[in-house]
Amino acid sequence: MKAKLTVNKSFAIGEIDPRMYGSFVEHMGRCVYGGIYEPNHPTADAHGFREDVKALVKELDVKFIRYPGGNFVSGYNWKDGIGPKESRPTRLELAWKSIETNEIGVHEFVHWANEVGAEVNMAVNLGTGTIEDAAQLVEYCNYPGGTSLSDLRRQNGAEAPFNIKTWCLGNEMDGFWQIGAKTATEYGRIAAEAAKVMKLVDESIELVVCGSSYMEIPTFASWEAEVLEHTYDYVDYLSLHRYYGNQKNDLANYLAMSENMDRFIKAVAAICDFVKAKKHSDKTMYLSFDEYNVWYHSLEADKEKTWRKAPPILEDIYNFEDALLMGCLLITLLKNSDRVKIACLAQLVNVIAPIMTENGGEAWQQTIFYPFMHASKHGHGVALQPIMDCPTYDCEEFKNVPFVESVAVYNERKSEIVVFAVNRSQKDDADFAVDLQGFNPTGVLEFCEMSGHDVKQANTKASRTVVPQEGQGAAVEGGLLNATLKPLSWNVIRIAIN
Ligand code: AHR
Repeated sequence: MKAKLTVNKSFAIGEIDPRMYGSFVEHMGRCVYGGIYEPNHPTADAHGFREDVKALVKELDVKFIRYPGGNFVSGYNWKDGIGPKESRPTRLELAWKSIETNEIGVHEFVHWANEVGAEVNMAVNLGTGTIEDAAQLVEYCNYPGGTSLSDLRRQNGAEAPFNIKTWCLGNEMDGFWQIGAKTATEYGRIAAEAAKVMKLVDESIELVVCGSSYMEIPTFASWEAEVLEHTYDYVDYLSLHRYYGNQKNDLANYLAMSENMDRFIKAVAAICDFVKAKKHSDKTMYLSFDEYNVWYHSLEADKEKTWRKAPPILEDIYNFEDALLMGCLLITLLKNSDRVKIACLAQLVNVIAPIMTENGGEAWQQTIFYPFMHASKHGHGVALQPIMDCPTYDCEEFKNVPFVESVAVYNERKSEIVVFAVNRSQKDDADFAVDLQGFNPTGVLEFCEMSGHDVKQANTKASRTVVPQEGQGAAVEGGLLNATLKPLSWNVIRIAIN
């Protein structure tokens, strides 16, 4: 099969925001307790955080982390998580039927995020919480000192403000499962008022308002339109959430699910622009795809719930086909980088996560770790408009799916172009040519691929074979990059330009 990607230096999609490579730490399952924090673990630091997990988070190169939920935040009182640990209350956590000890709260999380080099994206509770709670959290975190709340932060050990820039106005407030779920009118009103007071406390913050929990929910589109009617002038981003799964064991259809992500993004951007036009506004609403991943492997096992601390729930074990879909999802996000400025792989450790741990034992990379790491390390600069010429296929849910999914990113600072590509074909190599118009490519710096694995092969504690390897034979000649993309492969090709 032949596949040709044409890009042109003058045709940029958009600047890639570093927050595109975000993730998510929720107080649920073993994400916090037994994931990032395990004071009795042999690698625990003085604060009880696992050094082995920190090292993997740094390797993954996560730039931005949403916290503390998720569904959890809709019943959470942030004041439970400050002050001396021994006086913090243990609570019934209703969203995930867990026991929450509050050993980790805002101070500990900000400290940990600084250690791993990631910016914190804080969510406020708009389920059971009030606009006062939300404004007070902003004051506690961001006001330098001299008021009761900011001085309380200082007494609790943080002299300097946390200066958290990006905030989420609740979580999935349209979902019947959400604690304090709301209609679009109810949510639109409280989100607008919370946004207003939060920005009165700190006008430099940026706010993400909740869009639909997924595109297929019956209130989709009317939810976004009404919520934005109320909040358009106060907020900066609208959120999207979507999880994918291969329940039908149909590989061709599964690998095409990034088409759903693309449609979802374009539909939500259109709704934002409808409200913009209706309001005669000159402000563009950007998008925060702040939950995406594969989530289905653990659904059956998670049906039974009992009250426990850190129950091992949503522990999806990812395989090679999941890594290939992850590659397609990342390419789709980059292809929409004019509108999507924030994206969070949900979640980070143990709970539908690229990193798995054993309590008291090892930590390791799941298969989906690698495409994310490649994009996060190399996907910086501007995404270039991709013109793809390659054969397509039809499957159960999607028509005209290109066998090769690809995008190129121009990093001017490093004088390189990075091409990300997935070959969805189950049997054919792709003779892949990239026409780099307006650039002067001088050679291939690196060709890295994941291929040749059984699609159901996973990485486990005992066997970690689904890893990237060096690709062979990519070369630049006469302004063209030529490479062979193996069947069912994820590929990253870095090209030097001058
Ligand atoms: O990431 C797991 C859960 O998925 C989150 O808590 C919620 O926001 C979503 O439904």
